Amino acid sequence: MNNLEKGLRETVQTVHDYWNSHTLGFQYVTDDAIEPGTPEFFDHIRPWMNPYKFPWIMDRIEREAALLQGKHLLEIGCGMGYDSLEFLKRGVRVTATDLTPNAVALTRSHFELEQVRAEEVRVANALALPFPDGTFDAVWANGVLHHTGDSDRAIQEARRVLKPGGRAIISHFYRRPSWMYTLHRYGRENIEYKEQDPPVNEFYTEPQILKMFHGFTIVEAVQDHYRALPVRRAGFKAALYKYGFRPLYNLLPESIARKYAYKLSVTALKV
Ligand SMILES: C[S@@+](CC[C@H](N)C(=O)[O-])C[C@H]1O[C@@H](n2cnc3c(N)ncnc32)[C@H](O)[C@@H]1O
Repeated sequence: MNNLEKGLRETVQTVHDYWNSHTLGFQYVTDDAIEPGTPEFFDHIRPWMNPYKFPWIMDRIEREAALLQGKHLLEIGCGMGYDSLEFLKRGVRVTATDLTPNAVALTRSHFELEQVRAEEVRVANALALPFPDGTFDAVWANGVLHHTGDSDRAIQEARRVLKPGGRAIISHFYRRPSWMYTLHRYGRENIEYKEQDPPVNEFYTEPQILKMFHGFTIVEAVQDHYRALPVRRAGFKAALYKYGFRPLYNLLPESIARKYAYKLSVTALKV
């Protein structure tokens, strides 16, 4: 972290402190008796996690894994390691990283239980990756870079560690306009957790996102999450969402709904 400017260093520290105590997945636990890191724990939250909740993420993993057989993929912001696990099961060599030690520890237990071996599972900051230039054939980041405090820099770090022609598969920047942006901005609806949202949640227009991919050729940019998603929350606001907003919004034809998709996923090649 020491090679970042002071302001950004402080942001990264705040982001670290939040995610270290809110590893993505804990918000879906509905039975407190389940011990984190056990097989029951990973099974309990799996249906709510990437990539299982979203068929389009699993399709993307299948497609990328077919291209990356025996090649080396870096996952940035692996959380509990569910996406990396799917790549490992499909014959891709994986280095899984996250900013937070708790995510790294959970990912290690997860891989051990699933009997898969990563090249490495370690703490790493997307804004200053601890790898030499041109190390990886692909970089995968799913729902991460818009939480870092400097998405542009994170994309250029990903570019630096890619080999020439390497693939950056950056899933899910938050979009605006989008249905989630409206709920968040005007409805004060939290995005990740019921009680406390991450300190950094950047929303971008599509041109802003595409502009950050300088030094890349864009292969595709796809609107994901164009349907309002199921939530595992209880209470009045959640009921309004589940039984009011969500079914009504999801009646919109796809051509209109896509314009308000919540996220944009980009696949790009390093030039
Ligand atoms: C929304 S979660 C996504 C986790 C995982 N990719 C998934 O889909 O389940 C965001 C993750 O990004 C990580 N993160 C945030 N800032 C980061 C940074 N600067 N470098 C690396 N990881 C970061 C967090 O620790 C957290 O695990």
